Amino acid sequence: MKRHFERFLADESATMALARQVYAALPGDFSGWTVLLTGELGAGKSTFARALIQAAGHSGVVPSPTYTLVEPYELRSGKLYHVDLYRISDEEELRYLGWNELDDGFRMVEWPDRAPGLTADADLVLQLVVEGNGRNASIRGLSDRGAALVDSLVQGDFKD
Ligand SMILES: Nc1ncnc2c1ncn2[C@@H]1O[C@H](COP(=O)(O)OP(=O)(O)O)[C@@H](O)[C@H]1O
Ligand SMILES: [Mg+2]
Repeated sequence: MKRHFERFLADESATMALARQVYAALPGDFSGWTVLLTGELGAGKSTFARALIQAAGHSGVVPSPTYTLVEPYELRSGKLYHVDLYRISDEEELRYLGWNELDDGFRMVEWPDRAPGLTADADLVLQLVVEGNGRNASIRGLSDRGAALVDSLVQGDFKD
């Protein structure tokens, strides 16, 4: 089983296509999954999150959670929480903000390194690295089910 998937994303539409592919590989009810999005400012984390939220059936705008910390959605696969921890300086702050209440949904977290304790039990981590005009994407499975999803992405690429 492959726990690691890599792809060069030449432009924004490639980032969005990867997000749709990850969504398609998730179970029909994605409650309780946690996906971490890492990479510097401008790497494409929010682009990926927006495309996944839209793939899950949301047709309106996808506001940035930079100031609200959490943007909640009710989607056909369950509740989804788009989280951006950029402005968090202390993990304790997050506990007070109701982090534990996010357990019932799918959590997609930008800047997870701001709260390493709270994001330790994640299923997947996507890392985006700027490379020329594009991005290098790498996805790792952290949990067993995350690793199985990554393996299915790798298998899917072989079939293309
Ligand atoms: N694969 C890609 N190649 C080039 N530009 C990209 C790619 N993916 C996203 N972008 C662009 O990068 C910019 C910043 O993206 P954003 O998602 O806001 O980054 P972040 O949330 O990581 O700060 C956007 O203008 C977006 O169109
Ligand atoms: Mg962002």
